[in-house]
Amino acid sequence: MNTVNVELGDRSYPILIGERLLHQADLVRQHVPARDILIVSNTTVAPLYMEPLAKAFAGGRVVEAILTDGEAHKTLATVSRVLDVLVANRFGRDCVVVALGGGVVGDMAGFAASCYQRGVAFVQVPTTLLAQVDSSVGGKTGVNHPGGKNLIGAFHQPSAVLADTSTLGSLPDRELRAGLAEVIKYGLICDAPFFSWLEEYLDELLAVDPAALAHVIQRSCEIKAEIVGRDEREQGDRALLNLGHTFGHAAESATHYTRWLHGEAIGAGLLMAAAMSAECGFIDRTDVERVQRLLERTGLPVRIEGVSPEVALEHMRIDKKVQHGRMRLVLLRAIGDACVTADYPEPALQRTLSDYFG
Ligand SMILES: NC(=O)c1ccc[n+]([C@@H]2O[C@H](COP(=O)([O-])OP(=O)(O)OC[C@H]3O[C@@H](n4cnc5c(N)ncnc54)[C@H](O)[C@@H]3O)[C@@H](O)[C@H]2O)c1
Ligand SMILES: [Zn+2]
Repeated sequence: MNTVNVELGDRSYPILIGERLLHQADLVRQHVPARDILIVSNTTVAPLYMEPLAKAFAGGRVVEAILTDGEAHKTLATVSRVLDVLVANRFGRDCVVVALGGGVVGDMAGFAASCYQRGVAFVQVPTTLLAQVDSSVGGKTGVNHPGGKNLIGAFHQPSAVLADTSTLGSLPDRELRAGLAEVIKYGLICDAPFFSWLEEYLDELLAVDPAALAHVIQRSCEIKAEIVGRDEREQGDRALLNLGHTFGHAAESATHYTRWLHGEAIGAGLLMAAAMSAECGFIDRTDVERVQRLLERTGLPVRIEGVSPEVALEHMRIDKKVQHGRMRLVLLRAIGDACVTADYPEPALQRTLSDYFG
């Protein structure tokens, strides 16, 4: 087992990464030190992993809230149901909310924990690759609103993250590949050797090799922890984590979140960010080709068909809440060196959109 620490003063916490962590009752209890425990999960994950997790708390009071699976249910109404369960069981401020599932469950359980009695402890037990490398770390919690994705939420850091790599064995292949988009993102942002490592060991990752997966989860968490430790509330460097996301979010929202998984849209977005960086003269075309090759091998889309460049630009402006001014974008100065900038030639953006959308 490996540990990565997120350093946030008195809100610091460990991310534990290893095989079959869920089955290690002593370890689980050590990180969930409460008598009253609410485990939030969903209809897909609970039948697979609820039993071993709940068993660790024999002697305590364990209540389960099993939510309907799906992003469509990431709403205030669902969080309200979770809060109802806490109230109905008269849980006090010393309870712990445990999120067992992917990013959807984690975001909602975390949000419920952030507002129940003005905030109770919560522990993340992420079961998708995306959740293990991204959403369970960093303290962003929340739900969607008909007016936009993740519009309602709070910063609420977990007190521990238990990433059991064995749970990825049951993850659908498409979800695994989508999660890898965020992993590739970390290499592009700040770690060229890690990007090269991914090129070398992609086949092992796609074959769900435990050692290869443990390595990428650890390195990804180290990078995210480091950036979040510097800028918890996204006033500066945390924006680097949005590499590929302004393009990707445009693809997602223009297609009403139905056509691509988040990671798939981000895959295409990463290539667009790289291509635009080459248009700006920041990186070489050969770097763009490297990014494209890795994304293709991962089975991620490298262009977004069916969305025009004009519509994409409109969605990018909404995403960035920009009307007339210039959008700040995350671009690459090299593979492994991203920057946030509004200083790029407008035609470079136009070219990129017309090359990759439509
Ligand atoms: N808080 C953050 O910082 C942050 C960051 C990135 C994404 N997110 C959010 O995360 C969500 C996406 O998360 P996700 O990609 O994990 O999606 P998800 O939670 O919907 O999980 C994907 C699918 O896999 C299933 N699943 C989960 N674990 C499984 C397992 N071990 N075996 C079999 N099936 C399993 C789920 O039930 C679901 O059907 C989005 O709502 C996004 O907004 C949040
Ligand atoms: Zn993302």
